[in-house]
Amino acid sequence: MKETLERIRREALEALEQTGAAQDLDALRVKYLGKKGELTAVLKQMGRLSAEERPAMGQLANEVRAAVETALESRARKLEAAALEAKLRLEAVDVTIPGEEPVLGHKHPMYIALDEIKDIFVGMGFTVLDGTEVELAEYNFDKLNAEEGHPSRDWSDTFYFDTDSRVMLRSQTSPMQVHAMETMELPIRILAPGRVYRKDEVDATHSPMFHQVEGMAIDKGITMADLKGTLNAVMEQLFGKGTVTRFRPHHFPFTEPSCEMDVQCHKCGGAGCPTCKGEGWIEVLGAGMIHPHVLEMAGIDPEVYSGWAFGMGLERLAMRRFKIADLRLIFENDTRFLEQF
Ligand code: DAH
Repeated sequence: MKETLERIRREALEALEQTGAAQDLDALRVKYLGKKGELTAVLKQMGRLSAEERPAMGQLANEVRAAVETALESRARKLEAAALEAKLRLEAVDVTIPGEEPVLGHKHPMYIALDEIKDIFVGMGFTVLDGTEVELAEYNFDKLNAEEGHPSRDWSDTFYFDTDSRVMLRSQTSPMQVHAMETMELPIRILAPGRVYRKDEVDATHSPMFHQVEGMAIDKGITMADLKGTLNAVMEQLFGKGTVTRFRPHHFPFTEPSCEMDVQCHKCGGAGCPTCKGEGWIEVLGAGMIHPHVLEMAGIDPEVYSGWAFGMGLERLAMRRFKIADLRLIFENDTRFLEQF
């Protein structure tokens, strides 16, 4: 029996020394110390020993059990420590490796120009409105005094969604005038920038999608002088002190009288050069006094109130502001171009 106990101790300790996994340790525990384990089997035979032999064997058996238990425990702790060590090594972060600098973008030149325009108008007490690009022809045309058959409905070569020409991509930001008149309290001062759509081929000055900025003021006693004074002040803030403007008579269905405004060419001072195509002037917007019938259709009494409105092309303004020669550069989103602003 003594030999058996010694053998169990030797084999158990050896086996434990070689285990590399926690589940193997469990198997060894069962093999030696379990109910049907080898040590238990030896202990069961204890009864057959003589009274003299029994204490010494009992003591040895206890020693073997204690030795195996201690070895099991210390092996378990070692395996645990090794596992932790491996995990830490795997998850280690080398804080000395140089980081990757994120590439920061910046504002598009057209939106830089738009933000400047918004700032100027907000400073004058105007509210900035956001409009929808899908619009009813009723708002894009009818309520702006361009009834069925009016030539402006062909001018713009419109993108319609339906065959009876009721729903469309707006061809101008002017419908925002009507939305403002119908929903806001008087007096009204609004600025409404946004995308507009026309069936134009893409070239250096045309795109089927471009941006306009609509402006409108309605109050008692508003005159053409207010329109000119406001626009002159805005152009001076945008293009610098002493910027010269010119107002030419024009026609729009929703204003009476109507005009177009030019800014004197910054390059040649009006003498004529390639930038202004020899004209000396650059056209930037259409404007006028809101037609009494347009006010009336929106429920505003033209005997009491009057107002002015304008619509300017944002790309054209940004092109003048940043001396960009080709409209396509604004939409191509080539970062080599955009990074210059
Ligand atoms: N909506 C016109 C266009 O797209 C521009 C315009 C002209 C807007 C006169 C106005 C205005 O508000 O009063 O050509």
